Order: sequence, then structure tokens, then C-alpha cells
Amino acid sequence: MEETKRRGVRLVLFPFPLQGHINPMLQLASILYSKGFSITIIHTHFNSPNSSNYPNFTFVPIPDGLSDVQDSITDGFSLLPLLNLTCKVPFRDCLVQLLSNAETEEEHIACLISDPVMPFTQGVADSLKLPRLVLLTSSVQSFLAFAAYQVLRQKGYLPISDSQLETPVPELPPLRVKDLPAIETQNLEILYQFVDSMVNQLKASSGLTGNTFKLLEQSALATFTQEFPIPIFTLGPFHKLYPALSSSLLSQDRSCIAWLDTQPPRSVIYVSFGSLASMDEDEFVEMAWGLANSKCPFLWVVRSGSVHGLEQVEPVWPDGFLEMISEKGCIIKWAPQQEVLAHPAVGGFWTHNGWNSTLESICEGVPMLCRPSFGDQKVNARLVSHVWRVGLHMEENRLERGEIERSIRRVMVEKEGEEMRERAKSLKEKVEVCVRKGGSSHQSLEDLIAHILSF
Ligand code: UDX
Repeated sequence: MEETKRRGVRLVLFPFPLQGHINPMLQLASILYSKGFSITIIHTHFNSPNSSNYPNFTFVPIPDGLSDVQDSITDGFSLLPLLNLTCKVPFRDCLVQLLSNAETEEEHIACLISDPVMPFTQGVADSLKLPRLVLLTSSVQSFLAFAAYQVLRQKGYLPISDSQLETPVPELPPLRVKDLPAIETQNLEILYQFVDSMVNQLKASSGLTGNTFKLLEQSALATFTQEFPIPIFTLGPFHKLYPALSSSLLSQDRSCIAWLDTQPPRSVIYVSFGSLASMDEDEFVEMAWGLANSKCPFLWVVRSGSVHGLEQVEPVWPDGFLEMISEKGCIIKWAPQQEVLAHPAVGGFWTHNGWNSTLESICEGVPMLCRPSFGDQKVNARLVSHVWRVGLHMEENRLERGEIERSIRRVMVEKEGEEMRERAKSLKEKVEVCVRKGGSSHQSLEDLIAHILSF
């Protein structure tokens, strides 16, 4: 590949250390590197990315202090405010050092790019007079739902009560109360303060970069522009703008590709719930039988931690299940997901609707069976099933084997699924329009580059 002219401008990126946040940050870094910027990645020791996959980037680890506060991590959410606290001093020290090194080198540091869930980085950047851009790793629509938290509380939609689950939320159509990005935590006040801070520090930033595209989120983008008077650059889907290098924290089992090669076109349902979501044992058993009874071939990712209470041990398969599926099922611990979704044998994706998974499915025109677990996933599932209409939403009460089997067949073999596949194909074509020269994502990238160079 022809070497791009280097610009003598360095960007410092700081990913939040979870898989779904690391992937888009490193994808964005690769895009910007391909446009001539030098890249430094500051990262925590916890979930540190594999630097050997990115020989052109400089990786700088900082202590995250997590070992000192292990006992305070009481639920999935508590990691967020904790990291904002424990990383503050080491992150600032690191940035000070990088800025002072840059003074003696020929490059200057133009800006920091960090995740909205690291709001403390805005204060640090301000104190060092360094512009901060925010990389939104979720959908714009789900961020708007977080931004509406205060109103939702005032109107009594939050905290969610069981009697209101089906109530529509007119402030955020087409969401119902049960689609709101609620997060289970023992300390709601800390959650509310955290969301406030995330929203306010985004407003104080020098702009937002989004892993989404205009034709997908037109109305959410219009609302965002009204509510947030900052420049916004939507240049997604990132991995289609620049071929993705692997930023996987787990090793991907590529044997599934050879298995997919033996399956008929669009026959396989791919099942994966991302890097965090988990289920209880009963649901796991229902899933296993639902998949087996559907008679559709399936590729199922069962990572360690997928089933509550079985973090380190192999799942216990229901009696007779493995014998029954024989060649019909391929079960692995972690997949090369983008390659799997692009494989011609894959005809559907049973997903938790993390934003990366949702976008990756859209990019390949694969219809979805949606089983969101928490936070933004619920918003994404509603968009998939009721706005873009490229998926079937499995409501909580449908998680038993008969219903699962029927839902799989609705997506994979029935007319309803065929119609979803047609719409998914047309969304895929929109992606292709957006990322090609003259398309909105291509143009947004040019605008982002000009914005960075104006700092
Ligand atoms: C988290 C949140 O849950 C999600 O809602 C938020 O939008 C981003 O952060 P995660 O749950 O891991 O992420 O889901 P997702 O956003 O879908 O990201 C998972 C990533 O891991 C995807 O890029 C996917 O390609 C990759 N993956 C997943 C694999 O490489 N192999 C697998 O087997 C499964």
C-alpha cells in the first residue's frame, strides 16, 4: 500500500477498556492514521489492547488503580464512575508528559479523543488547553435517551416500574418504557450524577465523532444537533470506511469459517451476545432446545461468563442436546464476528444488539433476532425491529423453547424473515452509498480532518 504523507500532527486517543468501546476507538485510530495523523493510544492495564496488531501506533499504559478498589465493583455499572476516579491522576500525568515530549519533537498534539463514558477527561483536557473530541460508541438515538434522563425522571418513567413497561414514551418515539436504557445498579443517585456529567461534558467538548451514518439515524441526528451545539461528524460504519484490524481481547476461533463453508447459503443462524451480556441457567437451557428444535443450522458463541455462576467452567449441556444437534450446530467461545456475518451461509443473527453488533449486521444485510440485555441495547433493538424493520424483537416473555423455536423460524425461513432480509439488503446498500467517495460518511471524514487541523 502506498505510504500516506504524514502530517506532523499527533492525536491522543483514550478508549474505555471494554471490548465494545475498544473496537470502534481503534478503528477510528486506523482511519485517522490512514489520513496521515500519528496516533498515541493511552490505555489502562485492565483489558489492555494488543499493541502488536498496530505497529504504527504508540501505546502508553497507565495504572488504573482497579486492584485497590476491587471491593467497590458491585455491579456492571460501578466500573464506570470508579475508573473515572482512579484514572484521573495517572491520565493527567501521562498527558502532561506527552505534551511536554511533543514540544521537543517535530510533531504537535492536536487533540484528545475519548469516550463519553470518561467525562473526567474533559476537565483534564481543558486544564491543559487541549481540545477534546468525543467518540460516541453507541447509537445517537440511545445517547439521546440517556440525555433525556432528567426529563424521564421528572415525568415518572424512571426508575422503571413494572406497571408501566408497555407505556409509550412520547418524548422519545418509538420507545416504550421498557426500551429505555435503564441500568441496574444499587446506587441510582450515582448513576444519575454520572449520566449528567457524561452529557454536560459532551456539551463542553470540541465535537462528536459517531460510529453511525446519516441515512440510518437522520431524525436522531436532527434532534442531537438542536440539543447539542457542537460539531458532529458521523463517519460510520468505521470498519467499512477502513478495513478493520483485529482489536479482539479474546482469541477468535476461526475453525467456524470452515464449518460455515459446508453450509447452504443463508441457512445458518449466528448467535452471540457480545462481550458482557449474560443469562441465567434456565434461559440457557431454553435457548439450547429452541435452537435444536428450530432445525436451522446454528453457530453459537458461548463465551466464558455467558451463563451466570459458570464464569470459569464449561457450561453443562442439557442431556441429549449435543447428540441431537450433531453436525447441525457449531459451538465456539469467541468468533471472528465481522467475517462470520459477511459469510454467505449466514442468514440471521440472534444478537443482544450491542451497537457494534447491530452495525456489523446492518453492513452485511443480515436480519436480526433481538434479545437486548441492558442499557443502549434496548434502544437499538427497538430501532432494529420498529424503525428499520430488519429484525424481530424477542420480548422477555418469549424466552421459552417453543417461542424461541418459532421466532428463529420466523426470521430464517418464513415470509416475514424474507421481507426483513429485503429491507436489510437495502440498508446495506445505503451503507455502501455513505462510505463511497461523495457519500455522507466519506464527506464527514474530510470535515473531521479539517476540524482537527483547525485546532
Ligand atoms: C458494549 C455494550 O454492551 C454495548 O451495548 C455498547 O453499544 C458497546 O459496548 P458489547 O456488549 O461487547 O459492547 O457488544 P457490541 O457493541 O456488539 O461489541 C462487541 C464486539 O465484539 C463487536 O465488535 C463484535 O464484532 C466483537 N465480537 C463479538 C467478536 O469479535 N467475537 C464474538 O464472538 C462476539
